[in-house]
Order: sequence, then C-alpha cells, then structure tokens
Amino acid sequence: MIQIAIMGLGTVGTGVAKVVEENARQIERKLGEPLQVKTILVRHFKDGAYRDRMTDDFGRIECDPDIRVVVETIGGAEAAYEYTRRALAAGKHVVTANKQLVAEHGCELLALAREKGVSYLFEASVGGGIPILHPLTECMAANRIDEVYGILNGTTNYILTRMVRTGASFADALREAQEKGYAEADPTADVEGIDAGRKTCILADLAFGRQTDPAAVPMEGISRLDLRDVKEAEQAGYRIKLLGRAVRLENGARSAYVSPHLISEDTPLANVEDVFNAVVVRGNATGEVMFYGKGAGALPTASACVADVMEALQSGVRRTPLGWDPDAAGFVDPMELSGRWYMRTADSAARAVEVFGQIQVLSEEDGTVFLTDEMTGRKVAELSAGLQTKACLRVL
Ligand code: NAP
Ligand code: HSE
Repeated sequence: MIQIAIMGLGTVGTGVAKVVEENARQIERKLGEPLQVKTILVRHFKDGAYRDRMTDDFGRIECDPDIRVVVETIGGAEAAYEYTRRALAAGKHVVTANKQLVAEHGCELLALAREKGVSYLFEASVGGGIPILHPLTECMAANRIDEVYGILNGTTNYILTRMVRTGASFADALREAQEKGYAEADPTADVEGIDAGRKTCILADLAFGRQTDPAAVPMEGISRLDLRDVKEAEQAGYRIKLLGRAVRLENGARSAYVSPHLISEDTPLANVEDVFNAVVVRGNATGEVMFYGKGAGALPTASACVADVMEALQSGVRRTPLGWDPDAAGFVDPMELSGRWYMRTADSAARAVEVFGQIQVLSEEDGTVFLTDEMTGRKVAELSAGLQTKACLRVL
C-alpha cells in the first residue's frame, strides 16, 4: 500500500481524493500496489466521507514516514509555500495545482526537490486537465521553443462564452463559474488576467529556461471588455479571447503578457469555448502544436495531480523538470512587440487615417472601428493618444 496526503480539501483536493478512490483499480494496475490517501490537512474540520483522515496539524504529515507524496491544493503562496518547503525537506515528493506558488517560487522549490532527491511536479498548474507541461518539456524537448500562447483561464472563457452566446450578465456568468468550481478563491485573479498571467510565466519559464517575474508581466483581464467590441469583432470575422502569450526574441531575450485579443474565426483557438482551454506551442522543428481540453474543474485538475503522484512514485527525481535559470534578466516590455491592432474611436474615419495612415475600416457607426497595420504597442499608444480612443485590442 502506497500512502499519500492531501493539503487543502477544496474543489481540487476533493477531486484528488475522488479520483484516487474511483479509479483505484486502474491506478493499482499501473503502480503495482494500491494507492491510499492517508491524511488530509484542513483548516476547519468538516463532516463527510473523509472526516476520519483529517488533521489540522501539518506535523502529522511532515513526520509520517509512511506518506511518500503530498498533494498541495491549498493555493496561494503563504501556508502552501511553507508546507511545500517542509514536505520537500522531509524527503517527500510534492505535487501541486498551485500556479501562484510555481510562478513565484517554482525555481527555488525545484532546486530544493533536486537537493533532497524527490520530485516537485505541477502539471495541473497550467491548463487543468490538459497535458501541456510534460509535452512541452519532454515530447518537444528537441525543439527550440519560439512561442507559447493560448486560452489559459477557464473561468474567463466560460464567462465570455455565456455572455456572447446566451446574453448572460458578467455577474451571473461569474457566479455560475464559481458554482462549478472553476474560479479562484478570489475570482479577481481570474477576471483581471492574473491567473492566466501566472500560467503564462510557468510556460515561459519552462519554454525558455529562464525565470519570468510575474511582476514584470502586464496582465489585463476581461473586466474592461465592452460587449460592443465583441460584436464588432464578430461582424468582421473575429472572436475576442483572453490570451496569455510568451515569445522568444533575438539574443535570448523574451517577452510575455496577458490581454484580450481578436482571433480570426477560422482558427481553432477561436472556437475554444466554455471552460475549455487551448495552448499552442511553436517549436522550430514541429511548427505549431495545439493542446486542448478542460482548463478547470475538480476532476480534470485532479486527473493531472494524480498522474503526477503516480509519476513521482514510479520515476522519482529523474522526472522532476530540469528547472530554469533564476535570473530574470532579458525580459522585454511587450509594448515593443509588433502586431495589428483593433481600434474603436469616437473620431471619423478620415481623422483615423490622418493619425494612423493605412487602416482597414470595419465600421463607421458612431465613430470608427478599424484595424491598424503592423506596429508596436508603444507606437499604438502614442498614436491613439491623438484620437478619442474607446477600445484598443491586439489582433493575433
Ligand atoms: P479551494 O476550493 O478554495 O480549496 C482550497 C482549500 O484549501 C480550502 O478547502 C481551504 O480551506 C484550504 N486551506 C486554505 N488554507 C489552508 C491551510 N493553511 N491549511 C489547510 N487547508 C487550507 O481552491 P481550489 O479551487 O481547490 O484550488 C486549489 C489550488 O488549485 C489553487 O492553487 C488553484 O489555483 C489551483 N487550481 C484550481 C483549479 C480549479 O479548477 N478549481 C484548477 C487548477 C488549479 P477553507 O475551506 O477553510 O478555506
Ligand atoms: N481559476 C482557474 C481557471 C482554475 O478558471 O482557469 C484553473 O487553473
């Protein structure tokens, strides 16, 4: 019998306990031994199926030699950070879904895991149930990764889908996402792009081999998105999606950001709806590879956590990701990245042409909606200051 512990019995922690129980036979067949959740760390004792395994004392996990893997599903970078360090220091493998912790302290925790000869695995921290970090670091290992981008937050994709397809209000759609267990404990992290930003940092860390400081990455969510722009975009053959994007630049420099984008309706990413996420990785040998699946929710996320538990038990330290250089130097402000832009202004088309030069006019109802030629974000900011700008979005 192999014994593990779960820290934090919320949406994902409960999902982990369920997957271990419900898929016990498949898991045992692959591990060669049964897997059992021995101890569950909680803050408040709750009645229910797992009551007999609950403790509010982390020491009972830390000092229990029978517990070989600890699954951290507390979230945040406070208690989760301390317990993760102590569990690794005690020689236990740690598996997590906590992207904030990995984005902020992953490099250090991986180094500690290596020092202690254990694994620190975090497949569930990006894309929920989608296998993305293993394919990125293993199956695509022979590539130079030039770009990673995608829909990285299930809550906001769910909200956008409900608002656009069924006319739900922002508040109702957010409440539904929370009821379904998709949202963060503080959903500001979802709607303001912070959660997608943390995931973008993890993807960039692994893709480019160097720390991406979350504080340096501009993160814009969907809270300021105007439904009028969603409709204008649709009429012009585009969808608006919240994307995280990390790009390799010349001489080892790189950039990353999160913001809503217009995406042509013909591209697969444009049709990723509800809680689904999709991540596109561009390798110099593979070209673009896309990963798609449920990006949030108890069971999809638990699937990734339990697979990591099994991997840690089967392969030990050999499978811990290599880690990345902790030096965050070489990060370039994404305002320097070039692309086309969607603009809505209260000005006439003639005035927009005067300021922006060549443009593609999409509509002239109540001002002008247009697409620019390729230019940097800095240039757009400079030019749009000369107009009565109502909206400015990147076009992928
Ligand atoms: P959640 O439902 O809020 O669960 C977190 C649990 O941790 C709560 O039960 C909370 O207890 C408990 N907790 C907080 N501090 C604790 C402490 N010091 N000691 C013991 N338990 C503590 O959150 P979640 O949705 O499961 O998310 C957990 C982590 O997985 C987060 O990092 C999140 O970003 C990540 N994640 C979530 C999803 C998803 O779909 N939900 C998907 C991928 C990754 P109380 O009930 O007492 O507050
Ligand atoms: N709140 C996150 C989301 C959970 O909606 O994508 C999955 O990481």
